[in-house]
Amino acid sequence: MLDKINALRQEIDALTASDAAQVEALRIKYLSKKGEISLLFNDFRNVAPEDKRAIGQALNELKNAATDKINALRDALASADNIDADLDLSRTASPIALGSRHPLSLVREEIIDIFRRLGFTVAEGPEVEDDWHVFSSLNFAADHPARDMQDTFFIQRNPDVLLRTHTSSVQSRVMEHTQPPIRIICPGRVYRNEAISARAHCFFHQVEALYVDENVSFADLRQTLLYFAQEMFGPETKIRLRPSYFPFTEPSAEMDISCNLCGGKGCSFCKHTGWVEILGCGMVDPNVLEACGIDSKKYKGFALGMGIERITNLKYQVKDLRMFSENDVRFLEEFQSAH
Ligand code: DAH
Repeated sequence: MLDKINALRQEIDALTASDAAQVEALRIKYLSKKGEISLLFNDFRNVAPEDKRAIGQALNELKNAATDKINALRDALASADNIDADLDLSRTASPIALGSRHPLSLVREEIIDIFRRLGFTVAEGPEVEDDWHVFSSLNFAADHPARDMQDTFFIQRNPDVLLRTHTSSVQSRVMEHTQPPIRIICPGRVYRNEAISARAHCFFHQVEALYVDENVSFADLRQTLLYFAQEMFGPETKIRLRPSYFPFTEPSAEMDISCNLCGGKGCSFCKHTGWVEILGCGMVDPNVLEACGIDSKKYKGFALGMGIERITNLKYQVKDLRMFSENDVRFLEEFQSAH
């Protein structure tokens, strides 16, 4: 009898099952009323009295082992089913660390949002451009220094294929195929042949805005600028326009805002003037309208352009331009709460 028990014990320890029906068949084979272990219990009464203790114990152990084994087989199949259902090998292992938006993206979106409230829509253009869209259509003279290799990156020594030096190129692209009213905002990356330092980089980002319609005046430009400055830097912000020169606008101006660090009292950031320059602007030169196929007698326009890095520096006091492209996560994580 003991041999039979031991043989059954080995058989049971080695059991396997690949589905629930097999587990149930095993339960019936060993543990049901007519199962092999129950039959052994029936034989128990024939065991000699002096062996009863040892064999009784072995029988009970066998029954427990069989019950545990069959339960274990059932559990293993159930959890294997669950793993299959949930298993997604493409999922990122947890915990999933949340990223943050790049500060330049945050500020770009904020600028776009402000102009969107005034009815401007986003327009984009290519970074690899031609001379016409970057310079000629925008009234740059043939000998303008911006056309020089010193300032502009040319592609394969071809003077007609270059990296755009400003997003004003998107103005002429849009005007070429759209008649007024035009109200666009053009964000994008631009390139200039500059030595990289804390204050200059060979690529940076700009946002251009253009409004062309009948009866657009300098007063419209000024009001748009004031609205933008106060939405971006707070309702206390003052603006100041200084005469300037750009080939594509006449008259042209540069806009300063009251220094948002010292509130205009004067500090090292604003070089103790109380003002910081943030953008260029002006009334679109009639030559530009005509070059792009728009009747300059009927329509007028204003344009403005600003560097996103500059606005970001003012908002967040980033001292070194290179921080924006180094992708140091310690720097980027500082903007997590700015969302
Ligand atoms: N394109 C100029 C630059 O890169 C910025 C600019 C100035 C854009 C005046 C304009 C403007 O639209 O009217 O420095």
